[in-house]
Amino acid sequence: MSTTVEDALLTRRSCRAFRPDPVPRTEVERLLALASRSASNSNCQPWRVHVLTGAAKRALTADLLRAHDEGRRAASEFGYQPGAGEWREPFRSRRRRFGEGLYRDALGIEPGDTAGRLAHHRRNYDFFGAPVGMVLTVSRLPLRGALVDAGLFLQGLMLAARGAGLHTCAQASLIDFHPVLRRHLDVPADHVVVCGIALGYADEDHRLGAHRTTREPVSAFATFHDRVAD
Ligand SMILES: Cc1cc2nc3c(=O)[nH]c(=O)nc-3n(C[C@H](O)[C@H](O)[C@H](O)COP(=O)(O)O)c2cc1C
Repeated sequence: MSTTVEDALLTRRSCRAFRPDPVPRTEVERLLALASRSASNSNCQPWRVHVLTGAAKRALTADLLRAHDEGRRAASEFGYQPGAGEWREPFRSRRRRFGEGLYRDALGIEPGDTAGRLAHHRRNYDFFGAPVGMVLTVSRLPLRGALVDAGLFLQGLMLAARGAGLHTCAQASLIDFHPVLRRHLDVPADHVVVCGIALGYADEDHRLGAHRTTREPVSAFATFHDRVAD
C-alpha cells in the first residue's frame, strides 16, 4: 500500500495479472470519489464511469471476446492512435521496446508467435482477471479538452488505487469494440469511450509480477528556461 504520492507514482504499474479477490463496492466508490478530485477544465468534470463486477462483467467479457474473435474491430471515435505502420520516431522505437519487454522478455512469447501474442491480448477483455472492470467515457461536446480531463481522472484513480494497496491497468484495447460497450452500458451518443480500467489485487506470483517499464531521463523531455534569449 502506498502512503505517499511519491510511492504511489513509483509503484503504479500496468498490472496484467490479478487475483480474483473481490474489491468491496464501498471501496470502489471511495476511489472514484478521490479520482473525482482531479482538476478539469472550468471544473466541468466531463467523465462518467461504468463499474462492472460479477455477472455483468462476465457478460461484457463474453461479448467483447466474441466481437474480437469475429474481427468486429471498430474505428476509434476520436483517433486514439495511428495505424500500426504510421508511428513516427521516437514513438515507433519506444513501442517496439515496450512490446519486446512485455511479450518476449516478461511473457516468453517470441516475436513470430502470433497465437501466443493473441492469447495474451485476449486477456484484456477479461480485464486480466481483475474482479472489477471499469469503462471511462467523456462528453464529446467539446471533446479535446474532455480527453485531457479524462487523463487526469484516470491517473487520479490509478494513484488512489495504490493508496489502497490495489493495482490497475488502463485499457485502450477495449475501445476497438466500442459498439459492444455502448450496447452493454447504454453509453449516450454525446459521450465517447476513452478506455477500460482493470482494478484489483495484483497476482504477484504471476510471471508478469516483476515486469517493469523504463522511462526517458528528465533531460530528454524537459527544457529549463531561465534567461530571455538575446
Ligand atoms: C490510455 C492508456 C491505454 C492503455 N491501454 C492498454 C491496453 O489496452 N492493454 C494493456 O495491456 N496496457 C495498456 N496500457 C498500459 C501501457 O502499455 C503502459 O502504461 C505503458 O507501457 C507504461 O507501463 P506502466 O504503466 O507499467 O508504467 C494503456 C495505458 C494508457 C495510459
